[in-house]
Amino acid sequence: MSFFFKKILDTKKNGYIVKIIKKITLLKKLYYLIKAEIIKKITLQYPPYNRRFHNDLIKPSWDPIRYSTIALAINSILRDKIQGSFAEFGVFRGETSKFIHLLAPGKRLYLFDTFEGFPEEYLEDKNEAKRFKNTKLEIVKKNIGDLNNVIIRKGIFPETTKGLETEKFSFVYIDADLYISILDGLRFFYPRISQGGYLFIHDYNNPQESNAGVLRAVREFMADKEEKILEIPDILGSIVFRKI
Ligand SMILES: C[S@@+](CC[C@H](N)C(=O)[O-])C[C@H]1O[C@@H](n2cnc3c(N)ncnc32)[C@H](O)[C@@H]1O
Repeated sequence: MSFFFKKILDTKKNGYIVKIIKKITLLKKLYYLIKAEIIKKITLQYPPYNRRFHNDLIKPSWDPIRYSTIALAINSILRDKIQGSFAEFGVFRGETSKFIHLLAPGKRLYLFDTFEGFPEEYLEDKNEAKRFKNTKLEIVKKNIGDLNNVIIRKGIFPETTKGLETEKFSFVYIDADLYISILDGLRFFYPRISQGGYLFIHDYNNPQESNAGVLRAVREFMADKEEKILEIPDILGSIVFRKI
């Protein structure tokens, strides 16, 4: 065979190979597309809590990871009938309180805050004194809306826990930023959380917040406890654990 004909045949052969590769790539793309559609259909059952809630409140929120983690926890508490009240320590204007209460309106929800900003004597850095002053009880009440089962404890924590010594909790959300406040929160709530109950703490992986006060307090308090904390990749680095 002359060199000229051999060249033509080789070019044709290469052309076929290229065509076959292109077809395989196309088929692969189609396969992944169909697979993704099937997965979407299957996961339509997810999340286990109200889907409209997920689409209307969680997805458009500023921190969907934080709020969907909270929603899943509350869903488990209700599903598994874990006994005990709910609590949020560090409420500010009640944005998260509203969310928690909407998910479990039948659970008693205690809200602890000065509603006047940080207690000055708890501050390591006096420049923080101005933060979180922009609130008042009326704003919180208006934000939450339905106040059935909501008990507001205004003042400096833990003084505001008086009378709750025998109370049990199934969901606790601590978002109080300061080293002493977090430690006080853990000291009060930890022994009162029911088995399987959840404790969340905001700002653990947020070293800018109050000189890493949350991280220091949590590490110190949890050092001799059986529970292991789980770090959440939400915006300000929350943690959660379930009581053993
Ligand atoms: C980060 S804000 C809470 C934000 C709220 N959880 C939210 O999601 O919108 C922190 C709050 O903790 C409160 N706080 C911190 N230590 C406190 C203490 N020992 N007693 C009462 N309130 C405290 C402050 O007044 C402030 O409103």
